[in-house]
Amino acid sequence: MSDQTSLSPLGFVNFDDIRGQNNEIELRIPFDEIKRIQRGQYVLIGSAGVERPYLGRVISGPFYTPDAVSKDSAFARTSILLANEVPFLPDFHGVCRVELLGRVSLDDYHLSGFASRPFPKTPVLPMPSDQIAQLLGLEGNMYLGHLTGYEQIRVYFNAHVKKVLPRNVGVFGTVGSGKTNTAQVLIEEAIASGWAVVVLDVEGEYISMDKPNGEAKKKPLAAAMQRFGVSPRGIENVQVFNCPGTESRCPDAREFCLRFGNLSPYDLIEIMGMSEAQETRFLELHEEATAKLMTKQGATQHKHSKWDRLAGNNNPVGLNSLPNLTLQFLIDQIDIENQDSGYGNKASWNKVLQLLVKLKRYQIFDSVDYVFNADDLLKPGQLSIFDLSDATNVRVNNIIIAQILREIFEKKIDEPDAPPTIVVIEEAHTFVSRENVKAMENIVDMLREISRRGRKRWLGLCFISQQPAHLPNEIFELCNTKVIHQTTGKRNLDALQVSAGNVNEAVWGEVPLLGQGQALIISPQFAHPVLCDMRPCSTNREYTD
Ligand SMILES: Nc1ncnc2c1ncn2[C@@H]1O[C@H](COP(=O)(O)OP(=O)(O)O)[C@@H](O)[C@H]1O
Ligand SMILES: [Mg+2]
Repeated sequence: MSDQTSLSPLGFVNFDDIRGQNNEIELRIPFDEIKRIQRGQYVLIGSAGVERPYLGRVISGPFYTPDAVSKDSAFARTSILLANEVPFLPDFHGVCRVELLGRVSLDDYHLSGFASRPFPKTPVLPMPSDQIAQLLGLEGNMYLGHLTGYEQIRVYFNAHVKKVLPRNVGVFGTVGSGKTNTAQVLIEEAIASGWAVVVLDVEGEYISMDKPNGEAKKKPLAAAMQRFGVSPRGIENVQVFNCPGTESRCPDAREFCLRFGNLSPYDLIEIMGMSEAQETRFLELHEEATAKLMTKQGATQHKHSKWDRLAGNNNPVGLNSLPNLTLQFLIDQIDIENQDSGYGNKASWNKVLQLLVKLKRYQIFDSVDYVFNADDLLKPGQLSIFDLSDATNVRVNNIIIAQILREIFEKKIDEPDAPPTIVVIEEAHTFVSRENVKAMENIVDMLREISRRGRKRWLGLCFISQQPAHLPNEIFELCNTKVIHQTTGKRNLDALQVSAGNVNEAVWGEVPLLGQGQALIISPQFAHPVLCDMRPCSTNREYTD
């Protein structure tokens, strides 16, 4: 779409159908102007000099209709059906539907709501592109891409306001629609703004972001990079971690483990899917073991104080009160209790024992020298990637994800000076899903808590999912900003549409048709949902099949 500076009207507002939508008008476009209009175009509705014209966006059409006869008249039909034999074609014009986005105050270029509609025959002009960015709130310092249809208008998030990143972002779309590219763009821009970024990388795709984008050597991407004015470049401070006993394709990956004593027993119960009887045994065991260790250490702290505090009980105690509580110590306690035969039923004790022994085999607790420490992640411009691609099973990954989130959250609460931080969770539906959400109450509460308090502390989450239909409403509710790539399938579309609120039907109709890298972005920063051609990322991606 070329930047139309001409002030001649594209067309005029038509009479209404009284059953029409309050925020839509029909636009009639004389034949000679048709080539000036395209779907997606922003238009100004109002005569020159009108105080507060409307801003609108063409959402459907142009459809062509004869000027003076009905399209079903014999004259019109014959002209089409006998196209080869009769030379005539009735004069025709274009018809578009335009969504009204707001009224423009011309003093400060501000959009406001409206309870009126433009009169029939009001002229409709192209919106000068230099005013669109300001009106829609597209300005900021994190370069995302171009407004679709307007190569000269860049779309940015603003890293300095709390409207976007310290609240949560959801990135959705089918396989290959551009989600990971978008996540990489967000990561690159966040890092450039001095944020700390942590990626929970379940497919091992992000591990080579220290290198320039390898696809840039190929023609299509090289051309796209040029068009967007970006060049291939790796991120300077990148560290990759993997679990003991797993392979990472990153040669510099460092093995890490979690400290069992730091783990919330409630998270473990949920993720391991313990039955009620097993849960009771496990909590008895955990309390018993904790008490023993406390006495040994001469400590006086409340056993569950750390977890109570994270649940919002604000108990002011120090961190990591139980460094000596290991999985082996718990396992040993079960043997002892069984011999004493003091309480509990043997079957559920055995089941708990089996679970713990299995958990120990996964080697994620207290197994190697380097124990996960949020301090090492929360540094300005530091990208930390947890390569979980070779993990034994989803439960193990989920324990790791939950624990990393908790420890980062704790650190951000305790240290207000830690840099703004974003945690990217790929394949979020395998962590919390519609199917398991009821059993994951404690973890969903934590996510809510991170959202509520994290915003003030500049801690945001970025959920990525190719299966929005499998994500629970709770996650959608947490995502204030949604980047929606091409999505197909009624269930996925429905899930997104319900959560997205007030998006025009015709605009939704575009979602299954979006091209690779295009996205509908709904964000509190923008005055309206916008369609964006995302820029290609500068950093490399590891391809996995
Ligand atoms: N904004 C974009 N610009 C150019 N190419 C893109 C863009 N987004 C995605 N692509 C191309 O599409 C491919 C698939 O994108 P990807 O982000 O991996 O999709 P997803 O994560 O949704 O499966 C990438 O390898 C890249 O070649
Ligand atoms: Mg992907």
